[in-house]
Amino acid sequence: MPIQENKDAFVKEMFSDIAHRYDLLNKLLSLRRDVYWRKFAVRELLKSGGVLFLDVATGTGDCAIEIVRQGGGGKKIIGVDFTPEMIYAGRKKAERERLSDSITLLETNAMGLPFEDNYFDGAISAFGVRNFSDIRRGIREMRRVIKQNGKVVILEFTNPSNKILKKIYHLYFKRILPFIGGIISGKRYAYQYLPDSVMEFPNQKEFKKIMEKEGLNDVKYFNLTFGIVAVHVGMK
Ligand SMILES: C[S@@+](CC[C@H](N)C(=O)[O-])C[C@H]1O[C@@H](n2cnc3c(N)ncnc32)[C@H](O)[C@@H]1O
Repeated sequence: MPIQENKDAFVKEMFSDIAHRYDLLNKLLSLRRDVYWRKFAVRELLKSGGVLFLDVATGTGDCAIEIVRQGGGGKKIIGVDFTPEMIYAGRKKAERERLSDSITLLETNAMGLPFEDNYFDGAISAFGVRNFSDIRRGIREMRRVIKQNGKVVILEFTNPSNKILKKIYHLYFKRILPFIGGIISGKRYAYQYLPDSVMEFPNQKEFKKIMEKEGLNDVKYFNLTFGIVAVHVGMK
């Protein structure tokens, strides 16, 4: 299936297609590094304290769950995602982990968040922003709904800068990953879209500039696992 002009519709359909295998494939294809990456990002989010957090493009709720785990009792998280099947899987997971009191998952498009200005203590998005039909608008919305001095934290795939690593990574990412992802999910196009969308995504410096242009201050980023992913942190 080609990427349609209407990116939202394409992305939503794709995630509804793979929701049943999403968690399994994440762990398998990243060799469980995804767990460490989210832990790192959530640690950055929680550094400035606060109680109420937003997880944008929450998917099956892994960041929301990690916030409760790291934050101990008392944290409240609202996770938003526009794919009902991902939200459903996330709610089930939160129930299983007995975290439904702390986590609320809502079916909502990140391009227009249904929250008033200055509502949350901080906002995070893991592997969500790359899928947005309008990246700037998504960042603007995250910034709008957090309080002054709150943080926006973005975890996203990037490209390693080391030439040799880049070659190995591209072999894995462009050939092996779509093959395995295709066999297990039955939806190879979704695991072909993954590397394709990462190649199109701005690099770390460019993305830092986007966050700054959208009004975030002190933007910094951390490269993790040889720069396969980066965590950007900006303050309102
Ligand atoms: C790769 S998954 C990431 C899920 C989760 N954050 C994680 O760390 O595993 C991307 C998610 O972004 C959601 N998404 C993409 N664009 C969105 C938008 N405009 N509004 C809400 N959710 C969106 C998709 O439905 C999907 O669940």
